[in-house]
Amino acid sequence: MSAEILDGKAAAAAIKSDLSARVAALKQRGVTPGLGTLLVGDDVGSQKYVAGKHRDCAAVGIASIQRELPVTATQEEVEAAVAELNEDPACTGYLVQLPLPRGLDANRVLEAIEPAKDADGLHPTNLGRLVLGEPAPLPCTPNGVIALLRRHGVELNGAHVVVVGRGVTIGRSIPLLLTRRSENATVTQVHTGTRDIAAHLRQADVIVAAAGVPHLVKPEDVKPGAAVLDVGVSRDEHGKIVGDVHPGVAEVAGWLSPNPGGVGPMTRAMLLQNVVEAAERAAD
Ligand code: GUN
Repeated sequence: MSAEILDGKAAAAAIKSDLSARVAALKQRGVTPGLGTLLVGDDVGSQKYVAGKHRDCAAVGIASIQRELPVTATQEEVEAAVAELNEDPACTGYLVQLPLPRGLDANRVLEAIEPAKDADGLHPTNLGRLVLGEPAPLPCTPNGVIALLRRHGVELNGAHVVVVGRGVTIGRSIPLLLTRRSENATVTQVHTGTRDIAAHLRQADVIVAAAGVPHLVKPEDVKPGAAVLDVGVSRDEHGKIVGDVHPGVAEVAGWLSPNPGGVGPMTRAMLLQNVVEAAERAAD
C-alpha cells in the first residue's frame, strides 16, 4: 500500500487563487490588505519563512510591510515595533515571527499585538475567543491541517486524532479546532511527558506530528490506512529539513503529507486568508 499524498502546494494554490479574487474586490472598494512581519535576529530558517510569506502576498495582491530588528534588540524595542504596526493603517494584519531570540519574552510581545490585526491567531484574546466558540482569526497551522484533510476527503467526524507535541503554534491550539462541532473529532494529545507514545499512535485514525523530533512516528506505530500529517521541522547536519515522520510510514498510511510541501504551504495560505478576512471585516 502506498499513501495518497496530501499535497499542500496544490491545495494552497487553489486557496490563493480564491483569495486573489477577494483582494481584487477589496481594492475596488478602496481597501488594500497589507501583511506586516516583524523578524528579530538572523535565524536563516525564520528569514526563509518570512520571505516566503511576502512572496505569497505579492502573488495574491496583498501589500507587504517588513520590519526587522537585530538579535541584540531589547524587549522595549520589540514592543515599540509592535506598537508601530498596531498604528500603521497600511498594515491590516501582521505577525511576529517565532521563536524570538533568547532573552526576549515572546508572550509579552504577543500580548502587545492589537487582536484585530493578529494574522497568526495567537493573541490570548483570539485564543480565548476560540475557546468560547466566538469568531476569531484561527491559528494558521492547525487551520491549514484541517483544510488539507478536508480537501482530500479525510473524515474527521468521530475520528480519533492523536496530536504529538504541545507548542503554542500547533499542539496547544489544534485540539481546540478539532473538537469544535464542525469537526467533531476526539483528540488525544501526547508529549514528552507521555509514558508510551507509540501505544497512543497505534489507536489513531489521524496523526498530527508536531514534536520536532526527527522520525518519531515509525511505520510500526501507524494503523494501516490512517492519515498522517508531518508538521515537525528539524534540520540535519546539512541544514536539510527532517520531519517527525519516518519515510517508511508511506507504505502503511492511507494519506501522508510530505515535508516540505505538505502543511507548510497551507500555513502560509491560512495566514493570507486571515489577512484578507481582517481587511474584509474592517471594510464592512
Ligand atoms: N514560527 C514557526 N511557525 C510560526 C507561525 O505559525 N507563526 C509565527 N509567528 N512564527 C512561526
